Amino acid sequence: MHNLVAVIMAAGKGTRMKSKLPKVMHSLAGKTLIEHVLDTVTQVGIERPLVIVGHGREEIKAHISQRAELVAQTEQLGTGHAVMQALPYLEGAQTVLVLSGDQPLLKVETLQALINLHEGEGVSATVLTATIVQPFGYGRVIKNGILVSKIAEEKDATSEQRQIKEINTGTYCFKASALKEALAQITTQNAQGEYYLTEVFDVLLKLGEKVLAYCTPDSNEALGINSRAQLAEAEAIMRDRIADHWMSEGVTIVDPSSTFIDMEVELAQDITILPFTRLMGKTKIAEDAVIGPQTSLENCVVGCGSEVTYTVAKDAVIGERCHIGPFAYLRPGTKLDAEVKVGDFVEIKNSWIEKGSKVPHLSYIGDTHVGKSVNIGAGSITCNYDGIKKHPTKIGDHAFIGSNSNLVAPVEVGEFAITGAGSTITKNVPANALAVERSPQIIKEHWHQRKD
Ligand code: UD1
Ligand code: MG
Repeated sequence: MHNLVAVIMAAGKGTRMKSKLPKVMHSLAGKTLIEHVLDTVTQVGIERPLVIVGHGREEIKAHISQRAELVAQTEQLGTGHAVMQALPYLEGAQTVLVLSGDQPLLKVETLQALINLHEGEGVSATVLTATIVQPFGYGRVIKNGILVSKIAEEKDATSEQRQIKEINTGTYCFKASALKEALAQITTQNAQGEYYLTEVFDVLLKLGEKVLAYCTPDSNEALGINSRAQLAEAEAIMRDRIADHWMSEGVTIVDPSSTFIDMEVELAQDITILPFTRLMGKTKIAEDAVIGPQTSLENCVVGCGSEVTYTVAKDAVIGERCHIGPFAYLRPGTKLDAEVKVGDFVEIKNSWIEKGSKVPHLSYIGDTHVGKSVNIGAGSITCNYDGIKKHPTKIGDHAFIGSNSNLVAPVEVGEFAITGAGSTITKNVPANALAVERSPQIIKEHWHQRKD
């Protein structure tokens, strides 16, 4: 085992979330709370952290077992008890990092600074603290000079201690041997009748050990998610952080307060994001693209210089210099090559549209391969579903689909072929041919003056 080990406490129920989901499985900026903590821990070089699980253990296991070692805490007897469960796994560890699964705003640089201070000073424990205006509910950090002498929990603190604004964030670094020794001596003699991890500091003081505090300059990092209101608060903080990051990388975000960008989104320089836009999942956008307003992209790729406006898209690939929207809906499996236009009120699903083709108005294109430089007239649709199965449609290069055509799949329209407006095409159309399927027009003169 590595010298540095992380223990993430995540066995609590999260009662105040009032949810079917275990608390750490709630999402924040496109990742679960536990993933945020795992990512932070991984970035300080810890490959397989230990995660203490209890409530919702199977769900959490299915979600993170690839990247973490799960340790069961069958009864939740307190944070001290949670860490006790990890003791058998600390063989050979020198430094133990303890974190909470519900603190997703902790930054990598803060965690690294905590570890550096702890290891540099060679103390028994170092507590990550923050100074906050409203410390209610948190453990208060009582100091003697620069050394921590006690952490008083809200319910156990004296009124004088409750005035203290420096709080325990719930993230710590311990010398493994000191942690083991102190945990063996903690009790449940406190207001909540639990094994408090914070009692370890009383024990360490008695043993004559030194405990330091590292106070983070960003007090937002202390925010623990216990309620939906705190989840929304964290989302707003994370959203600001992400927007600030991308703006510093050369992305124009016209209105950061109405722009939501998930953690794993990748943006290139000189992109413009217009208001009320959501970029989700693993969306990746290339240079000079203009996205929004009111656009929602989930796991999409957008090529250089494309414009995507008032659009909803999921699992879609948009090539370079495309024009999408307003009011387009691109569903999973959509692949658009360069210079494709998808206009207003158009839905595309599981289809590949090649370079320079246009679907400008009011169409549904599903399970279709559209070649290059094809024009699909207004209101044309593919009839890909016969009630039992989905069928494919193929449209060759330079074909022209007249307005309001119905292409009844499976069907093929050849290169340079034309379908007449209003035709229902049920048979393949050869290359270069015209297919018209509609009744001849009837003219009845003087119809307006008719008598009954
Ligand atoms: C804890 C600290 C408090 C600190 C605060 C920061 C203690 C006694 N107090 O209080 O000083 O200011 O965090 O947010 O540690 N958990 C388990 N098993 C248990 C109990 C808890 O895994 O038996 C997990 C929870 O799922 C959670 C974390 O430990 O992820 C913290 O527990 P919580 O009950 O939220 O502690 P706080 O009362 O917030
Ligand atoms: Mg808490």
